[in-house]
Amino acid sequence: MSTARPPIGVFDSGMGGLTVLRALQAALPGESFIYLGDTARLPYGSKSPGTVQRYALQAAEILVRRGVRALVVACNTASAFALEALAARHPELPVFGVVEPGALAAAESEPGSHVLVLATESTVSGGAYQRAILSLRPDLKVHARACPLLVALAEEGEHQGEFCDSVLRHYLHGHMSGQSISRPASVVLGCTHFPVFRPALEALLPAGTRVVDSAQTTAARVREALGGAPLEAHADARLSLLATDGVRRFARVGGYFLGRPVDEVELVDL
Ligand code: DGL
Repeated sequence: MSTARPPIGVFDSGMGGLTVLRALQAALPGESFIYLGDTARLPYGSKSPGTVQRYALQAAEILVRRGVRALVVACNTASAFALEALAARHPELPVFGVVEPGALAAAESEPGSHVLVLATESTVSGGAYQRAILSLRPDLKVHARACPLLVALAEEGEHQGEFCDSVLRHYLHGHMSGQSISRPASVVLGCTHFPVFRPALEALLPAGTRVVDSAQTTAARVREALGGAPLEAHADARLSLLATDGVRRFARVGGYFLGRPVDEVELVDL
């Protein structure tokens, strides 16, 4: 039996969005996916909003030309700055971001508690997470910390060990002490590269701290919105992986994010 259902397009600035793809594939095993990592232009997280928006529109264009039936922006920075522009450029397609679903998960924190968002420099300074969480739960105290080094570490396939721990400690400084006023009840992984640090992070955080990852809530939202999608695994469900640079590195390191080996990656130019 063959499926004529077009694939769902997913993009990120690099390989981190494979953590979202992994959750999407688990939630929608009958669907085909095309994933694009804009590795040539990573990081998006230190670029200006206008540049991020332009890059995101170009990345989406390549997926749209391949006939996708929905777009998932698996990059927090692009979700923060380009979601409206993408929806306006492609009114025929459902467009999903990761910030709102992440905020939804964070909004389950205890009343009046502190929430710490770890994200890129641009996501933090743009304030999209802070606004999204506070609009759902004005009683929460939201802090945000830019963690640019974590993106580089993740792209290198470094996600545990002494070096990672000291970088994580550096970023958590001031939020870890049990006495600290800003000791967070929840830590939001506001960057698609960060879920690979979850075990190391959980080991460093005080016991009982919730670590929130938007991949699951995003996948649930996409599944709900694309009602009628087959929920059972389908032999015809396909995955195509595209990257704008370093396809061999992508194949080598991408498995850390996707949770299984990556074999073929197609090189594309935007
Ligand atoms: N994918 C980006 C995000 O989730 C992080 C990497 C980058 O800075 O491009 O914000």
